Formats: sequence, structure tokens, C-alpha cells
Amino acid sequence: MQHMHETMLQFSFFSFTLCFFFLIIISHGRSSISTISATPNDLINQTCKTCSGRSTVLKYNFCSASLEAIPVSHATNLQGLALVAMELALENATHTVISIMNLLKNGTSFDHFELASLKDCLELYWDAVLSIADSIEAFLSENNEIAEMGMFGSMEAAATCEEGFLEKKVEVHPLTKENYNLLQLCDIALCIIRLLVNGLIM
Ligand SMILES: *[C@@H]1O[C@H](CO)[C@@H](O)[C@H](O)[C@H]1NC(C)=O
Ligand SMILES: *[C@@H]1O[C@H](CO)[C@@H](O)[C@H](O)[C@H]1NC(C)=O
Ligand SMILES: *[C@@H]1O[C@H](CO)[C@@H](O)[C@H](O)[C@H]1NC(C)=O
Repeated sequence: MQHMHETMLQFSFFSFTLCFFFLIIISHGRSSISTISATPNDLINQTCKTCSGRSTVLKYNFCSASLEAIPVSHATNLQGLALVAMELALENATHTVISIMNLLKNGTSFDHFELASLKDCLELYWDAVLSIADSIEAFLSENNEIAEMGMFGSMEAAATCEEGFLEKKVEVHPLTKENYNLLQLCDIALCIIRLLVNGLIM
């Protein structure tokens, strides 16, 4: 477990560094999306409006708050925003894996059912971390279909984790917020990738 933990952190850091490098390239390179003449703030607002309008889970305020919190979002294009969303999802999922490991260490405060659900979620989130990392790699090599599949799979992971606790009929369990965050972050990325693939009808 400890080893997995360290590998993950290193991986996440590596991936952040990598993406920063690419974001710089992307934001300095000529945008292939010249149809968007919006200023960066407009771009975040417009993207979040479009994507929250098309989604049953994504809220506009969550979308704009998440993207606006990352300085590079303000100086980038749609490709850059997709990467920001994927990086946020990766960071969130990685953090959740660590939180679940900490919760499991404290085992005594959970019953059998909750422990089993937490263990399922740990596996789901670990797979989600790997899927998101694969998606980022695929997106950077312009393999958008593979990128979409990874983000979609991660949304399913969050939904499955949430469902695992539903039988328990408690309104808020230890991972409700994490599941909802990951669902929405992946949905932002998925939506932007689809906008790019379909040539942007916003
Ligand atoms: C974007 O939305 C934020 C808040 O949602 C608002 O403060 C800002 O003025 C908007 N920017 C533009 C360019 O519409
Ligand atoms: C997860 O994402 C949410 C929404 O963007 C953010 O508020 C939160 O700080 C993130 N947590 C981590 C650990 O990345
Ligand atoms: C573990 O349990 C202790 C005592 O119940 C609590 O104070 C602590 O916050 C718990 N840690 C986690 C990570 O849940």
C-alpha cells in the first residue's frame, strides 16, 4: 500500500509537470480553433454554460469555480481547458484514494457493510486514477476517442462507488462529496473533448 501511495504521488507530480509543459506549448502555439474569438474568461463561462446545459450532473458554478481556480485556465484555449479539467480530475481521484486508505486505517468506526463498500471504492478510484492518466496521454497524442473512454469510465467509477452506499439509505456517506466532484470534473473534460471532436457548436 505504501508503495502504491508513493508511486501515485510521483506519477501525479510527473503528470502535472508534463501537462504544464504542454499547456505552455498550447497557449503559445497558434490555436487551431480560430472560430472562438472569446477572451479567456468568456471561454470559461461559455464552455461551462454549454457543458452544464448538456449535462444532468454538472453545475455551472462548480464548473466555473473549478476552472477559474487554476491560473493557466485564463490563458489558454479549449484544448488547454480540457487538460486542466483532466488534471483536476486526476488530482481529485488521487487524493480520494489516499483519503479512503486513511479511512480504512481507522476501520473501527465502520460496520461490515461500510468497510466492504469502502474497499470497493478504493479499487474503483485506483482504476479511475489510471484511466484518467491514460486519457491525458491519449488526449495529448490526439487520440480523442480513447481519451473520452477513459473519462467516461472514471465517471462510471464514481457512480458505482456512490451506488455501493445507496442500499445503506444514508443521505451523506464518507465519499458522497468526492464522488460528486469526480463526476463533475470528468464531465467537464468529456464535454470539452466532444466539443473539440464535433467542431464546437456552443
Ligand atoms: C464570467 O462569469 C463570472 C461569474 O460567473 C463573471 O463574474 C464574469 O464577469 C463573467 N465574464 C464574462 C466575460 O462574461
Ligand atoms: C477536488 O475538486 C474540487 C472541485 O474543483 C476542489 O474544490 C477540491 O479542492 C479538489 N480537491 C483536491 C484534493 O484536488
Ligand atoms: C480516525 O478516528 C479518530 C477517532 O475516532 C478521528 O479523530 C480521526 O479524525 C479519524 N481519522 C480519519 C482519517 O478518519
